Amino acid sequence: MTSLVINIKELIQVEEFPKTMICGKEMKILPALKNAFLLIKDDLIMDFGSMENVPTIPVDTTIDATNKIVLPTWCDSHTHIVYAGNREQEFVDRINGLSYEEIAANGGGILNSAKKLQVISEIELYKQSAIRVEEVMQLGTGAVEIKSGYGLTKEAELKMLRVIKKLNENYPITIKATFLGAHALPTEFKHRKNEYLDAVIKDILPIVAAEKLAEFIDIFCETGYFTVADTKRLLLASTKLGLTPKIHVNQFTAIGGVQAGVEFNALSVDHLEEMRDEDIAALKDTRTMPVALPSCSYFLSIPYTPARKIIDSGLPLALASDYNPGSTPSGNMNFVVATACIKMKMTPEEAINAATINGAYAMGLEQTHGSICKGKKANFIITKEIPSYGFIPYSFGNNQIASVYLEGKEI
Ligand code: NIG
Ligand code: FE
Repeated sequence: MTSLVINIKELIQVEEFPKTMICGKEMKILPALKNAFLLIKDDLIMDFGSMENVPTIPVDTTIDATNKIVLPTWCDSHTHIVYAGNREQEFVDRINGLSYEEIAANGGGILNSAKKLQVISEIELYKQSAIRVEEVMQLGTGAVEIKSGYGLTKEAELKMLRVIKKLNENYPITIKATFLGAHALPTEFKHRKNEYLDAVIKDILPIVAAEKLAEFIDIFCETGYFTVADTKRLLLASTKLGLTPKIHVNQFTAIGGVQAGVEFNALSVDHLEEMRDEDIAALKDTRTMPVALPSCSYFLSIPYTPARKIIDSGLPLALASDYNPGSTPSGNMNFVVATACIKMKMTPEEAINAATINGAYAMGLEQTHGSICKGKKANFIITKEIPSYGFIPYSFGNNQIASVYLEGKEI
């Protein structure tokens, strides 16, 4: 099956050879081709170039993209899409003056989601989560990382990971799984944190690794949740079993989580709303991708990740949604890109690089996703008729997507 997209006003994020990541000043450059074509064979990109060289071979489908922009689908490297129910009541409680931390301290927050998830059937959890997966695909996301962490018991954590696995099998979006058993301390383990970590490490982690239910390991390294020492303990045990760290750090307080991530060669450190100079310095010359989650800052009214400081110091930056019921009940990467421009002063080029190639890197998908490159997955967005790619973040909150193609097929 071959498809040819012709008359593309501008084909964005093109590259000859897959890059691993884009750092510092380079993030301001977004390689693009005007008046271009894109040739697809089955699920892969076969060729692209200028319309002057459009292939004359017979194809199964021709798609005319006159006045439209084509770009790779978003790579959302941090989500908690698999969850049960919602936390609308906490949203109202926050409007009425309670803080996210106060709600959590009263048994709400992550524990509230865990209570709901523990009693729901695997089928029902799959159904609720599939709705969100379909929703983000329509919004242009072609690869997504999904975490466990709302189970907090062996049964419920494994149930979440099995649902993530099934979603990956059943949908054309690429899904990577992360084990986040250390997301919060369950009430039954109050004042017995070490025992809970023992259970995570001894009872759940070996099954996750043996059954290959997750590639990545995560922990909420935060004041009131898990300490740097807890983080190192978990990362030591999980890296021994072959899991790669991608961790929640510096959301509310900077306590050394970035350094712990770097020490264990984390693929990414995520959130980073509270960044000290030493945290930025710790990321230099490492393989660890800093990941910002601007929709979370927006929803909770907490500081935005200091993107300018991070990028201007020469580091890369990725953008992700953090889609979850408590701090970010939205998986719209178009909004993430817009908010990064509006609130974090990233240019459209920087934000698009952060939400495509750098997002792919933060999931270990940079060889197959995140750009328009021969041999990569045929995952792309065709926009409506818009003046330029900068119009996507400029017209924040509006939908500029006409169609989304995943693995070569329109969804
Ligand atoms: O990334 N910060 C930790 N975990 C999630 C939110 C968890 C929740 O409130 O359900 C986050 O923001
Ligand atoms: Fe998160």
